[in-house]
Parts: sequence; C-alpha cells; structure tokens
Amino acid sequence: MEDFDPTYIQAPEHRSDSNFIPNQPEEIPVIDLSRLDDPEDVQNVISEIGDACEKWGFFQVINHGVPSDARQRVEKTVKMFFDLPMEEKIKVKRDEVNPVGYHDGEHTKNVKDWKEVFDIYFKDPMVIPSSTDPEDEGLRLVYNKWPQSPSDFREACEVYAKHAEKLAFKLLELISLSLGLPKERFHDYFKEQMSFFRINRYPPCPRPDLALGVGHHKDADVISLLAQDEVGGLQVSRRSDGVWFPIRPVPNALVINIGNCMEIWTNDKYWSAEHRVVVNTTRERYSIPFFLLPSHDVEVKPLEELVSPENPPRYKGYKWGKFYVSRNRSDFRKLEIENIQIDDFKVKT
Ligand code: OGA
Ligand code: NI
Repeated sequence: MEDFDPTYIQAPEHRSDSNFIPNQPEEIPVIDLSRLDDPEDVQNVISEIGDACEKWGFFQVINHGVPSDARQRVEKTVKMFFDLPMEEKIKVKRDEVNPVGYHDGEHTKNVKDWKEVFDIYFKDPMVIPSSTDPEDEGLRLVYNKWPQSPSDFREACEVYAKHAEKLAFKLLELISLSLGLPKERFHDYFKEQMSFFRINRYPPCPRPDLALGVGHHKDADVISLLAQDEVGGLQVSRRSDGVWFPIRPVPNALVINIGNCMEIWTNDKYWSAEHRVVVNTTRERYSIPFFLLPSHDVEVKPLEELVSPENPPRYKGYKWGKFYVSRNRSDFRKLEIENIQIDDFKVKT
C-alpha cells in the first residue's frame, strides 16, 4: 500500500468520501419511455425529462428501444478484448494522429484515472479541424482502430452504436419539446457529427479512498447515454448543493446526462452536472457511454429563442471542433496548466 502510485491520488476535497452523505433517499428519476406510446402520457414524459434536466442534469431511461442483446454482445466482446495481454492491447493504442482506440492513462483535471478505455468514433472517418489555431480552417479525417481479436469486436460495437445514436436523437427531440422548441430544432447541428463512444473498464483498486475511476468532471458533449453494469460507482453532484448521489444500477437502463453544449444552448436552464466514478477493492466495473457531439463547424452559444433582455446570454460562442481538438491534446499527458474548460467561455459579469 505504501507504494501506491501518487499520480492517481486525488486532492482530499475530491476523494470519494468528500461531500458524500450515505443513505440519502434516491431522487434521480427513472423514466419509462414506453409511456410515449400512450398519447395521453406523452406530455407528462416530456415535462418529467425537462424537470430532470433542470434539477439534476441526469436521469435514467428504461424501455428505451436499445435491444438488450446488442448491449450484451458488446459487453461480452469488450471484456474479451480487455482481458488480452498488454502487448495485444497496445497494438490499437491511441496516438496523436488518431486519438481513438485503447488507452490506459487518461487524466481528468490532471490526476490519473483508475481505468482503461477504448474509444470509437461513430462516423468513420470523422472530420475534425487540423489545428487548434482559430484562423486555420483546415480539416482532416480521423479513423477508427479495430483490434484483430475478438473477431466480432467491430461489428458488435457498430451495431450497438447505431441503436444508441437512434435513441440519442429521440431524446434530443424530447428535450427540444421540453424547452418549447420544435422537435427537430437541433438536428442541423449534427450533419457531420463528431459523436463517439467509449468503453470504460475500472479494475479493482487497492486504494479507492485515494483514487477515482474518473475524477469529477462535466461532459463536454450535448447529451451522454451510458450503459453501466451492476457493480455501481457513478455519482452525481446535486445542482442545488453539490452533495454527491449514487446513480443506482437499474438492469437494462441507460443513464442520460446533459453535457456542456446543451447547457450553453439553453443558457444554463438545463444543467451539466459534475459526476465521478468511485472504484472498489474487489470488483471490476464496465461502462459504455455514447457521447453525442455536434459537427466541427457548429458555433456553440445560447439559442436566440431562449435568451431575452431579462435573460441575456451567459456565454460567448465557441466553435465546437476547435474546442474538441484543444481539449483532446490535454488527455495525453499531465499538463502544467489546467486544460480548457467551459467556464472560460462564460460572459464575465
Ligand atoms: C465518462 C463518465 C461514468 C461511468 O466516461 O465521462 O462519466 O460510470 N463515465 O463510467
Ligand atoms: Ni462523464
């Protein structure tokens, strides 16, 4: 224990016991999407989603249409991949040219996460800016990396991702309606979507009191859809007071959360919550988030319909693709400076 690697150690105020009050009543909503089949219930579902986005920035959905066999298949093949020897896994390692594939040393806020990941672009190839320079309009293509073994890894992932994307757009429509906007208000932002999905493996950890699976962070995307296994460990910080709450594993449910883009589009009406992953000493845990991201050229700024003289824009706009490439560089190594954060775009008052 004495020689626990210090690069994993969280500052005391960010450890798993900070601001966590055990045995609080469960409040994060679980919404049954099969209720959308009942025309009389549709409006209730929409307002429950809107309330959850405002109060928590998190909710879970059940009967969401992503088939459980597609999910089980991906869970099975990714386990086989992560169980391979390291020499095999690093053949599909993330690099600076194509920042996807296998990676085991991600930093969140400059502290190392206790996890291994595998990242996959939804569109292959995907179009991204070629540099972080705001004046440079150059673009480049980035490609997925696929392991040779297990042999159905690629197909299992692609099938699951298509279902997840379909649900992401359905949720986007419901969120749009909950804001009093037309159903398809956001669709044009996704013509060259930069969505990707990730497989997280959190191995057992000898010091869950010091390290985290993922340190506290907000997702930078529009919405995230996360499949978690039965182990548990995801926690969300409550908007009203910052107290941490566990997101209880519900069989076959998906955890949905609001990311920074949606928070900015709604001028802070909807909340992108801080969340983190607590690890444990005995059980490995898997999770599969799908991150819905706009096209590289989308200007992320408060929607005109949602601002007014009484509610002026709280953010300056930024180009999504430029933000993404600046952000991505910092995942590779510990930087001396804090990486770029959404608050850097807040209008100073
Ligand atoms: C993430 C994340 C949560 C989890 O990958 O951004 O928050 O439960 N994951 O793995
Ligand atoms: Ni996250």
